[in-house]
Amino acid sequence: MTLPPADPAGQTGPSAGPAPSGGCPFAGYSPDSMRRLFGPEAEADPMGLYEKLRAEHGTVAPVLVADGLPAWLVLGHRENLDVARTPSRFSRDSRRWHAFQDGLLGPEHPLTPIAAWQPLCNFADGAEHKRLRSAVTESLARFDRRGIRRHVTRFADRLIDEFGDGGTAELIHEFAEPLPMLVLTQLLGMPDEFGPRIVTAARDMIQGTETAVASYQYIAGALEQLIARKRESPGADFASWLIAHPAGLDDDELVQHLRLVLIAAFETTANLIANTLRLTLTDERFRASLAGGQMTLPDALEQVLWDEPPFTTILGRWATGPTELGGQQIAEGDMLLLGLAAGNMDPAVRPDAARPVLGNRSHLAFGGGPHECPGQDMARAIAETGIDTLMSRLPDLRLAVPEEELRWRSSLMSRHLLALPVEFSATAAARARAGSHVPGWVAGLDPDAPPATDAGTGSAPRATTSVGSGDAQVYTPPQPNGRPARRPGRLRAFLIRLLSR
Ligand code: HEM
Repeated sequence: MTLPPADPAGQTGPSAGPAPSGGCPFAGYSPDSMRRLFGPEAEADPMGLYEKLRAEHGTVAPVLVADGLPAWLVLGHRENLDVARTPSRFSRDSRRWHAFQDGLLGPEHPLTPIAAWQPLCNFADGAEHKRLRSAVTESLARFDRRGIRRHVTRFADRLIDEFGDGGTAELIHEFAEPLPMLVLTQLLGMPDEFGPRIVTAARDMIQGTETAVASYQYIAGALEQLIARKRESPGADFASWLIAHPAGLDDDELVQHLRLVLIAAFETTANLIANTLRLTLTDERFRASLAGGQMTLPDALEQVLWDEPPFTTILGRWATGPTELGGQQIAEGDMLLLGLAAGNMDPAVRPDAARPVLGNRSHLAFGGGPHECPGQDMARAIAETGIDTLMSRLPDLRLAVPEEELRWRSSLMSRHLLALPVEFSATAAARARAGSHVPGWVAGLDPDAPPATDAGTGSAPRATTSVGSGDAQVYTPPQPNGRPARRPGRLRAFLIRLLSR
């Protein structure tokens, strides 16, 4: 998992520029003969491109990435695991890349933001990796599942309430994207009112817009304040546990790892929710299996993790010396891209890709080896509980446009659904809100007090003082679709009024 840089001024995503003609051969391949992972073909149909590469080269293919830099795309399921599980041959330290050593990646290069080395567990190997990762994994392990699910239900309910009366919604911006971030800010130990601002800032930062730097600064500032506050008065939350961890992360490492967790969880979990919702809304067989009890929601999520993994590709690993993989001669300092989506479709493990993969979790969506995603259980819990809440609240949810009108955006590492417009019966939504589905956390809340921040521990909600709320009022990140910022607490006040009638 790679992260946008501390200063995201540079563009992220692949360049659409032409591949250079001529130039040095790469392991005997001339750049002219190598397929590009950027540009119109790659953006229109990345899976089709992977299959062409598999047919031409087998399990490991030479490709060109942004600005025509050569790399290896690993297409085989076994070969992806070999690379991920053998850090002695394939390092996570991007400083080994000859393109960096040859000065080919300046600050403006499109890959610099995601490939430049940073003091993070996902750029470290060996003992340093263990030290940094143990702080993250052991702090994540302290959450109890019921506590996490309680937060997810609470935020899912809140988002559904916000669009419930209209009978229509756009599920990417109004549900799939905000839900993971709202939950994460809570688990990190931030007060409620930070959630919506962080969602907007993170989306803005990842998209590399003109305000990306301001949005990054907002997030970094909020995280710095969070650390300062939690050092003074620790709570039962991820930030406090990370600070107290015996690995002894310094302030910079703490901010960077909080940021890693926020960003790692945001786009990926949003993609998982979006892709699973899309499948349930468009695939009749799938919906019928779910409704008929032949398939459970967890089964559906695993199917999506096989067929449409949130990361299609991971950048990357760097060869520690000359080696061989899938019949290709890899040179020291070459970059390898883990082809997670391609590996999941490898005919060696899925001879019939149309067959459901019920009960089989050996997909590559969460990587493998020492860097395997430590947040996967949390991602599954957020996606499953969120979708379950949505489907129970709005049982007649349906797509509002023909399936063919759905649009995607592909980049080097992922493929996103741009919008998922839906409609549903507004009366069902209103009934659900007024009825038994009003979550327990609402009862007895003071509209002016933020709810629980004893994140995911299952403990009772308690009021907290907000972290840097003054600062949050100074900077309001850009709002999607130019809409005015929603006033935090409005919904809660409405529900309390409703309940006290
Ligand atoms: C569906 C959602 C998610 C997907 C598909 C996903 C995928 C991945 C993958 C493929 C990697 C390995 C990268 C590599 O091998 O270089 C990774 C690493 C990581 N993920 Fe996730 N992730 C998800 C959600 C989360 C969540 C919710 C968290 C935290 C709460 C998280 C935290 C991390 C961290 C900290 C790493 C770096 C681990 C290391 O380098 O040792 N991820 N993720």
